[in-house]
Amino acid sequence: MTRMRMKRHIPERMEKCHERWFDDPAANKGKWREVCGIPEDAQLFLEVGCGKGKFCTETALANPDVLYVAIERDKSVILAAIEKAHNQDIPNLFFINCDVNIIEDLFEKDEVDRMYINFCDPWDRRNKPKRRLTYREFLNKYKILLKEGGQIRFKTDNDELFDFSLGEFGKCGFEMSELTRDLHNSEYDKDNVRTEFEQKFADAGVPIKRVVATLAKK
Ligand SMILES: C[S@@+](CC[C@H](N)C(=O)[O-])C[C@H]1O[C@@H](n2cnc3c(N)ncnc32)[C@H](O)[C@@H]1O
Repeated sequence: MTRMRMKRHIPERMEKCHERWFDDPAANKGKWREVCGIPEDAQLFLEVGCGKGKFCTETALANPDVLYVAIERDKSVILAAIEKAHNQDIPNLFFINCDVNIIEDLFEKDEVDRMYINFCDPWDRRNKPKRRLTYREFLNKYKILLKEGGQIRFKTDNDELFDFSLGEFGKCGFEMSELTRDLHNSEYDKDNVRTEFEQKFADAGVPIKRVVATLAKK
């Protein structure tokens, strides 16, 4: 199937999996657990820039008591993730097709227990750092919806982006732990779920950088 033909079929394919995504996700603000049929005391984990969904589908399957929500702005990319969740019938995983920019319209203050940022686009440090999903403007938005004690788990292949992000986490008051510049050869690899991009970089011999940033105090 050509890329053009695949693109033409996006609306029909999205429609087939409609139970996994929302026409108006902002209407779920403050009531994600209730709308998704998950107990009120369940944890909510949010992945931003989920790509084709390898990480969120595997993680949601392994943790059926946690509600997973994944955001991705590219429709043809999120479609692959949504179809994975639909075909595997994963009841605790839902998707939002939007830009992370509007995240504060989608989640209530303190609604989220943990976030994942995996291999976000590195952009150019000199002219596009504001687009990085670990830029302070994004981190300040995440801080509103994250609970006190909530974490952002961040992985990247890119040294420059990693150093930049450590600086941004520090400036925004996050405490950092479990830092490694070679995740796959570290003690933290035992529970690690590889993303699509992570697998490609690992195959090319690039060491993966990873840190846990905790919002210790709000
Ligand atoms: C390099 S890919 C990584 C995909 C996946 N996380 C992985 O590790 O395999 C980055 C993804 O983030 C998405 N993305 C980048 N900026 C975004 C934004 N502001 N809002 C939503 N998605 C975004 C891109 O469309 C792309 O699919």
